[in-house]
Amino acid sequence: MDITETETLPTDEASFDLIANALETVGYAIIADCLPIALGVALCGRVIMVASECKRAGVGRGKDHVLDGLIRTDGIRWLHTDDLAETAYLAWMEQLRLGLNRRLFLGLFDYESHFAVYETGGGYRKHLDAFQGTSNRLLSTVFYLNPHWLPEHCGELLIHGPVGDILLETIPPDFGTMVIFQSAVFPHEVAITQHKRYSIAGWFRGRGV
Ligand code: OGA
Ligand code: MN
Repeated sequence: MDITETETLPTDEASFDLIANALETVGYAIIADCLPIALGVALCGRVIMVASECKRAGVGRGKDHVLDGLIRTDGIRWLHTDDLAETAYLAWMEQLRLGLNRRLFLGLFDYESHFAVYETGGGYRKHLDAFQGTSNRLLSTVFYLNPHWLPEHCGELLIHGPVGDILLETIPPDFGTMVIFQSAVFPHEVAITQHKRYSIAGWFRGRGV
């Protein structure tokens, strides 16, 4: 597939069915080989190109925003529409937004996303991406861009249950895997990585706040 053909990107209704069903029944979805492979490959090239533009990410919004290397260590760069691969990714996520709204009536209003680069030794402590009623982030997404991830590289995404301290999932950041979960429901963390780790993190937002 030519990733420049954003107008004709195939929408994957079967994947959208699977994702919607998983979100409705368990609250999260883990999809291997989620995007067209050529797009994943183009995004891998892109994240390496923009890695030097990545800035240390902070924690909290507005005046509560702080840089805290003990909580998270990733460098981030928001996606732009001046690059074809980034535009194609955003176009695919837009199709997913519409597909999920048709199936689940979530009222997803828009999508924001950034590349994230974790250096060896980095991670992101257990956190929630949104607090019920205080943020418009409804669904979190992470798409992984690491073609040869090995078990000894660690750096898994750990998804915890909403109550108690139950570990639900341990997900290696393998190339092509997409994880989607309810932002206000699942605490999660990035285990300390032993290898440079690339991804695109994003959020579907509702209207308001
Ligand atoms: C985040 C996050 C998870 C991951 O950026 O908020 O939780 O696996 N990322 O990169
Ligand atoms: Mn998060």
